Formats: sequence, structure tokens, C-alpha cells
Amino acid sequence: MGKPFVGRERELDQLLAGLDDARAGDGRLFVLGGESGIGKTRLAEEFSRIAAERGVSVIWGRCWEAGKAPAYWPWKQALAQIDADFDLEAKSHRLEDRNEESRFQLFEIVANFLRKSAAEQPIALVLDDLHAADESSLLLMHFLARGLASAGIFMIGTYNPDEARVTPTHSHLLARVTQEGTRLFLEGLDKDAVAALLENLTGYKPPQSVVDTMHEATEGNPFYVQEATRLYMTKGDLRRPDYSVGFRVPEGVKDVVTRRFDALSDELREALSIACVIGRHFDVSLLAEVCGKEADRLRDLLGQSVRAGIVEEASSLGNYTFTHVLLRETLYEDLTPSHRMRLHHETAQALEGLQREGDEALLGELAHHWFKAAQAGDAYKAVSYAVRAAERARSLLAFEESARLYRRALKVVGQGGFDRSMAVGLESALASVESEAVSSPSEPASIGPNVFVKEADFWTVEFGRERAHLRNTKGLGYLARLLANPGRELHALDLLHTVREGTTGGAMEQPGAEDELRIGPDDAGPLLDATAKAAYRRRLRDLQEELEEAESFNDPERATRATKEMDALTQQLAAGIGLGGRDRKAASQAERARVSVQKTVKEALRKIDEATPALGAHLRSTVRTGTFCSYTPDPRVPTEWKL
Ligand SMILES: Nc1ncnc2c1ncn2[C@@H]1O[C@H](COP(=O)(O)OP(=O)(O)OP(=O)(O)O)[C@@H](O)[C@H]1O
Ligand SMILES: [Mg+2]
Repeated sequence: MGKPFVGRERELDQLLAGLDDARAGDGRLFVLGGESGIGKTRLAEEFSRIAAERGVSVIWGRCWEAGKAPAYWPWKQALAQIDADFDLEAKSHRLEDRNEESRFQLFEIVANFLRKSAAEQPIALVLDDLHAADESSLLLMHFLARGLASAGIFMIGTYNPDEARVTPTHSHLLARVTQEGTRLFLEGLDKDAVAALLENLTGYKPPQSVVDTMHEATEGNPFYVQEATRLYMTKGDLRRPDYSVGFRVPEGVKDVVTRRFDALSDELREALSIACVIGRHFDVSLLAEVCGKEADRLRDLLGQSVRAGIVEEASSLGNYTFTHVLLRETLYEDLTPSHRMRLHHETAQALEGLQREGDEALLGELAHHWFKAAQAGDAYKAVSYAVRAAERARSLLAFEESARLYRRALKVVGQGGFDRSMAVGLESALASVESEAVSSPSEPASIGPNVFVKEADFWTVEFGRERAHLRNTKGLGYLARLLANPGRELHALDLLHTVREGTTGGAMEQPGAEDELRIGPDDAGPLLDATAKAAYRRRLRDLQEELEEAESFNDPERATRATKEMDALTQQLAAGIGLGGRDRKAASQAERARVSVQKTVKEALRKIDEATPALGAHLRSTVRTGTFCSYTPDPRVPTEWKL
């Protein structure tokens, strides 16, 4: 029996109607957005199944979410499914120059190839996880999307907006791709669909109370529903009609996943913790080498995790994949920075042993692992592989990817221990690829300053040519506060406690903004004075930067120091704004603040999407919510706000 598929009738209908248009010669692009686990890939799979039944040739390109694939990877995968002999690399080598014009020619070649193939058999092309695509792949997608109308090609792209901020250029490219088509934003499943999913997973019709609890806790995120159900299937019995007594779903999907891992044997958990460093996809012999275990023993262990639904066997022998990227991420985030680095180092060494001449997929992986392990002693390798991968990307006319890799090499060189001439050489190579790369994809020009102002119970928002009045919600208040502090990381607790209904959310420096720290009727706890709070927050901001820098320079000690201080400060700040209590309590208050801010901002974005779609798209690509929240517009596209 295949995996169950529930709900999503409306979206499926829209996609299939689009497919009909494409088959009639009027090409279509759909971009499926939504948080991780919401069901973008699954919807695209279900669509693919139906399209294939209707005689359409469905081809997929997947971007790698962990580890770095070579430039144009999703395209190479997809094109090879139409014709295994279509060699993008050979075609790019045949072009005379290495400049933007030749890239244009290369894109034309791809477009003509697709047009010709589509004329023989209709094509539906799915590119999954565009947030992880290299920028050059997005450029090619944009190019094709523009010419779709006449080509009769149907395209689906999926992306997770929370991740689509790898670089400002990346998120703007994605926005440009989206503008060429229809954006479908996936929300959680409704109660009926959750009930159907539960029934499918357990084999029993769940009592309404279980459905209600599950739907509320997971907001209909099917991955969350699945994981929570699995947890309860192993720990209790979801089928008992009285199960609702004491039935609680852990807060946050990662929490559920962590608990599922806790139930595994130490040996299996350790093997999976190593596998997650290799990447979402891993090979059993490579894993055996890094683990120092017999491959047979590992196969047994992995068999257990296949049964637990954590990994699945891929089509090629000995290859496994984490069933969902969130499983891999949860394990990865659980490792200490120094442990991670050591494992990247061991993976890089083992991979080197496997490398064959001209194996380009491995080159990207090697560059990735050596970079992550640069501080563990072999900075030279990190530079050398980054440069080789950069050169390769350049030969493929993937200038943006090439520039990214040269920048990485320069970062490592900048840490010292290298000859100055090395940096000079790299800088000149970087300048040369940068001159061909797309520099500043522009957003739709905005006319005058944009507006996000609260008057009485309504917010007036204006963006470009759009204008709307929205009823006040806390989420809009959080957004206003983020807009007032572009480029800054604000702690979720800080947002939660500074934005009351009725405030407009001013910039942090504004006199009076500090007064907002005192909140809520239930917060009569001891308050820090405004100066102390401002100092705490400044320090938190600095530490956040420190942490990011330490992570990008692979400096575990510095990162651990920063994390520790941040935790301590967060707790003090929490105590200071009246949350008080013991450490654990403060930490969980911070977690609750994160969940609550995320939820309310999500609701606000939903409203904004309906009223002013361009503003919705802008905010989705620039606002990040989490423990720290921020608004980071592209510095090259001035976006002014009247707040
Ligand atoms: N409509 C659905 N019916 C049944 N199961 C679903 C449905 N949508 C998603 N699922 C299941 O939920 C899990 C997560 O879905 P999926 O992998 O499609 O999420 P995603 O949005 O692609 O996440 P990511 O952004 O992390 O790739 C999968 O196991 C999938 O099979
Ligand atoms: Mg997916």
C-alpha cells in the first residue's frame, strides 16, 4: 500500500487545471511555499502521479539541503531524465567565452531542448526545495519561466520561506521566479484531513478529542502529526477511546522528534548522529568508515531505523536517506560544535579515499566537509577544495556559485597561516567571476516610502501600489517592530513583551520604547530598569553576531562561549521582565515566546498575503522568526518605511 494522501483537493485541482493549460500550449509555473513538513513535496508527488497517469512525462530535480551539490545540480538531474546524453557541462564548455552572454546562450540551449522534448511528449518539471538551490539554478529557472507561455511546459517549484534567505540575492531571485507564476502557499491540514491521516497511520478511527488535540497542537502540519502519532504508538495506545485523558502533544515539532530519538538504542542513535553529518543522503560504506563499524552491523542498525520510519533505503544499493530533513536537522543541532567539526573532518577524509578523477558530485561534498572542518587542522584542504569547486562552477558558467566558493576560500585564508599572495590570487579570481554574476536583482520598484502605521484599531499598510487597512493583531505589532529595526536580531521574548496591543512598535533606540518593556496584567514581577534592559539586549545582539561568526569560522570554543552567555542573558532578561523563576522555567518561557511569536506572525502574514500580496512576498523573504527574529531587506534595494 502506498503512503496515504489526504486533503489538498483545492490545490491539486489548481495544479491539474494548470497542467491542462500547459498541454494546450500555454505553459504554467506554480511555486509551492510553506513551512517544513507542511506537505509541499508530497503534494508535488501526488500531482506527479496523476500527471504521469495522463501521459505526461514528469521529471524531478531536487536540491540538496545538507551539503553542497555542484552548480545546476537540480537541472542536471532533471534534464538527464529526459535524455541521459544531455550534458550541460559539455555544452557549456563548447561555448567560446566565459561571460554572461555565453550563459545566456547556454540557457537558450536548455530552453530549446525542453521545448523540443515537450513538443513530443508533454512535460511537467518539478524542482524541489528551491531554498537550497544554487543561485545559478534559480536564474535558469527564471529564464525558462519567462519563456513558458509559448513552450507548453508545466513547472512546479517548492520552497520553504523560512529558509529562503541564504543570501539576499537568493531570496530576490526566488521572488522573481515566483512573479512569473502562481504562488500557492500551503497551510496546515484541516481537521477532517488530520482525522483521515490519523486513521491511516494507526488503522483506527480516532476519537474526536484526539483529532482536536492533535489538530490544535500541530496546526495541521502533517509531518508533525505523523511524528507525534509515531511517538504515541510506541509509548502508549492511541486507539483507546479514552486516550484523550492526559493526551498531550509535545510543543514544537523538534521536541517530538527528539523524544522519538530518545527511544532508540545508544548504538543506533550514535550511528545516526554520524550519518546526519554526512548529509540527508548517506552511503552505508562511507558511514561504516566514519563510524569505525562493520558495514553489516550498520545495515542491521539501519534496518531498525527504517522500521522506525527515520531513514529509508534509496534506489541505489547501500544508500539511505533521512525520511525528512527535520529528522536530520534535529540530530545535527544536537551535536556540539566541536563534535560536528570532528565528524566533518572524518567524513572529508573518508570521502577523499573514495574520490575518483572527475567525480564532480564528490568535489562539492568534499569542499563542504573540509570547509566545515577547517579549524580542525586542515585549512589548506578547505581552501584547495573550495577553489577547485569554484573553478568547476565557473567552467559551468555558474558565476554566483563560483563566487560563493571563492568567498569561502578567502574566509579560511583570512584566518591566517597562508601566504599573502594566496589571498591576492583568490581576490582577483573572485572579482572576475563577480563581474559576470547577477549583482542586484531588483524588486518591483516601490513608490515613495512604504507605510505600516497603526491608528486606533487598524493598521494602514502600503507597499508599492498596494494599500490596505488591517484589523489590529499582535502579529502586526511584532512585524512593525521588526520593520523599525532592520537588520537586527530581536529576541522573541523581547518582542513578546515589548509589543502590547496598542503600541506601534518603535525602533529600539527611540525614547519611550523602553517603557514598553513592562507588560501584561500578569507580569507584576521585578523589573529591570530600562538602561539595564537596553544593555542586555545590545549584548544579546552582539553575541548573536559573535555566534554566527564563530560558526562560519568553525570556532567551536568561541561559539560555545557565546551560546552560554546568550543562554544566561536570556534567562536574566526573562527574569527581568517578570517571568522570573528558575533557570529551566526561564528557558522554557523563551521557547514558548518563540512558538507564540512565530504563530502570531504567521497569522499576520496570512492576512497581509490576502490584502497586499506583494508586501506578503516581501515580508516572507525578509522576515525571520525564531528564538531571534529579524527583518533583513536587501541592502542594495532601499526599502523605506513610514512607521
Ligand atoms: N496531504 C498529505 N497527506 C498525507 N501525508 C502527507 C500529506 N502532506 C504531507 N504528508 C506527509 O508529511 C510529511 C512531510 O511532508 P513533505 O515532506 O511533503 O513536507 P515538505 O513541505 O516538503 O517539507 P520540507 O520543506 O521540509 O521539504 C511526509 O512524510 C509526507 O508524506
Ligand atoms: Mg519537501
